[in-house]
Amino acid sequence: MVLYFSGTGNSRFVAEKIAKELDDKAVDIKKFLKNEAVPDFKEGGVYVFVAPSYVSAIARPMTDFIYETAFPKGIKAYYVVTCKASMGVSPEIDRRLSGRKGFKYMGTAEVKMPQNYLVYFTTKEKEDNLEVINDALPEIDKIAKTIKAGKRLQSTKMKSGEFQITVFVADLYYEFFMKTKKFSVSDECISCKKCVNICPYNNIEMINDRPVWGDKCTHCMACINMCPKKAINYGKGTKDKPRYTGPYDVIS
Ligand SMILES: Cc1cc2nc3c(=O)[nH]c(=O)nc-3n(C[C@H](O)[C@H](O)[C@H](O)COP(=O)(O)O)c2cc1C
Ligand code: SF4
Ligand code: SF4
Repeated sequence: MVLYFSGTGNSRFVAEKIAKELDDKAVDIKKFLKNEAVPDFKEGGVYVFVAPSYVSAIARPMTDFIYETAFPKGIKAYYVVTCKASMGVSPEIDRRLSGRKGFKYMGTAEVKMPQNYLVYFTTKEKEDNLEVINDALPEIDKIAKTIKAGKRLQSTKMKSGEFQITVFVADLYYEFFMKTKKFSVSDECISCKKCVNICPYNNIEMINDRPVWGDKCTHCMACINMCPKKAINYGKGTKDKPRYTGPYDVIS
């Protein structure tokens, strides 16, 4: 089974490609984070967990989900992390998590995909994103074939101390930077509720036909990127930046 978490579609795209090669299904964990009951994962065998890199490590919505969910002991756990530049210390996090859960850790692979973090970084136009996605295709294929062959995924080695520093910084970042106060909505809003429906944490509600943000946010960037009217902004820096609407939209 392939389980994925995805804000803007990169991890979904990779998960679906891998699932196709494995003749398996790709399951979005967003529905479990939102409201659907988590099923009993009784099947043994191979599990592939696909998620973005947040703050130099596999995104916590995915690792928290794995930690809190019952899986059969001894499953073979593969991890695939999509990122703009680097999956950082994901392999060490995944190895430790697998150990705690009684999984057989089969490695972590990185896939470089377009940047989606427009509130703090620069997102690119469609043509540039298309190039990045096309460059990623052979790597996705290689990863899928490695998993299909039952082989381990090879990860790069970390520098000493990198793990502790990254986890320390990430703890602070999740606590103090993944905030919603700076989200705003313009008069372009057509009250379509796409932002409400897309948020993995049900953190947005419509009040007087306008979205209002609560406190539970993982900065997945789905709401701000996917708004069909570009009506959502974050502080003053996002107004003129391109929105990243995911690989399927870029390719179409
Ligand atoms: C909160 C946040 C933190 C991020 N941190 C990193 C990072 O540390 N390194 C990196 O290469 N990319 C980082 N990115 C970029 C994403 O990992 C990348 O665009 C990813 O493919 C998005 O996947 P998705 O479309 O499935 O959500 C970050 C994005 C977000 C939203
Ligand atoms: S997605 Fe955009 S247009 Fe639709 S309700 Fe949200 S802010 Fe308004
Ligand atoms: S509020 Fe927006 S950025 Fe935060 S978790 Fe929900 S969709 Fe993602």
